[in-house]
Amino acid sequence: MKAIRGATTVDFDSIEQVRARVGELLKEIVKRNALTRDEIVFLLFSNTNDICSYYPAKAAREAGFSFCSLFSAAEPDMSGGLEKCIRVLALTEKCGKPEHVYLHGAASLRRDYSKIINIALDGPAGGGKSTVSKLVAETLGILCLDTGAMYRACALKCMYENADCGNEIAVKPLIDKINIEVKYIDGSQRTFLDGKDVSEEIRKPQISMSASTVSSLDCVRKKMVGLQRKIAAETSCILDGRDIGTNVLPDAEFKFFLTADAEVRAQRRFKELTEKGHTVDFESLKTEIILRDEQDKMRKIAPLRQADDAVFIDSSAMNAEEVAAFIVRKIQEKI
Ligand code: DC
Repeated sequence: MKAIRGATTVDFDSIEQVRARVGELLKEIVKRNALTRDEIVFLLFSNTNDICSYYPAKAAREAGFSFCSLFSAAEPDMSGGLEKCIRVLALTEKCGKPEHVYLHGAASLRRDYSKIINIALDGPAGGGKSTVSKLVAETLGILCLDTGAMYRACALKCMYENADCGNEIAVKPLIDKINIEVKYIDGSQRTFLDGKDVSEEIRKPQISMSASTVSSLDCVRKKMVGLQRKIAAETSCILDGRDIGTNVLPDAEFKFFLTADAEVRAQRRFKELTEKGHTVDFESLKTEIILRDEQDKMRKIAPLRQADDAVFIDSSAMNAEEVAAFIVRKIQEKI
């Protein structure tokens, strides 16, 4: 008999969410263990007692697990544990190494089962890295780390202090004292500069070029790369940036390089910025993107470059969902 463990979370205690997440969890268990639904002989569920709307076992029956025995139970209240969580134990007579499945943040429950995975997603500006990495992270139940946000926060610090972003002598004392923190609030990354949430401010168009300039300085890269490596060592995550696969995590098991035509990238950035209410001129934005890519590619330390072992993706004719699905497929083929 083989025992497969799995867990997922729901965002809301609703019948629809319990049904959808249980269905998704069981589908992944079956797929990753190369089983059919009928080869599962027993499903034992437990859920944290903040889920009352529906029985996971009922959701399993509805998901087509009609032959196996089913049981669900509520867990005692363990304060400090993962909230709104559903766990499952699936038994099958088909032998082989079990592939345990943890989705929607539940990977944090079992570090022993789910070894840390790091995914490097590099590429030029506007290639869709941040949207794609959010989608991949959500599907795999891991964190996503937008490393560009850190360099943007460094540029903002220089702006506050009237320091020239390209001058190492002026910037170093600021970087020595800078406190950049990345926190996850309601599942999304928030970037804090010296205790202040600057997540919106760093997205202003005028910060982009300064972030590129400041990111070429040795003192800045050393400090940011140290922070990024620390986060990656502690948790499974997808990191999007310019030098993740080549420099930050050269041993990452999964590496992707995402790009698109400059015209398409400029259109995407234009849409993103105008939707946020910024006034931008398309032609100047396109020129800036091309210039920024050149600057990121030409800098001496850790330039923007595809790692030799990265999978190349041209997203000019793909949407973010398609790119994310491609990346998830590549990862699931290997794990
Ligand atoms: O991804 P972004 O546009 O937010 O990044 C802003 C700048 O930060 C980018 O032009 C170069 C720099 N950067 C970097 O040098 N290395 C990274 N890993 C991420 C960003």
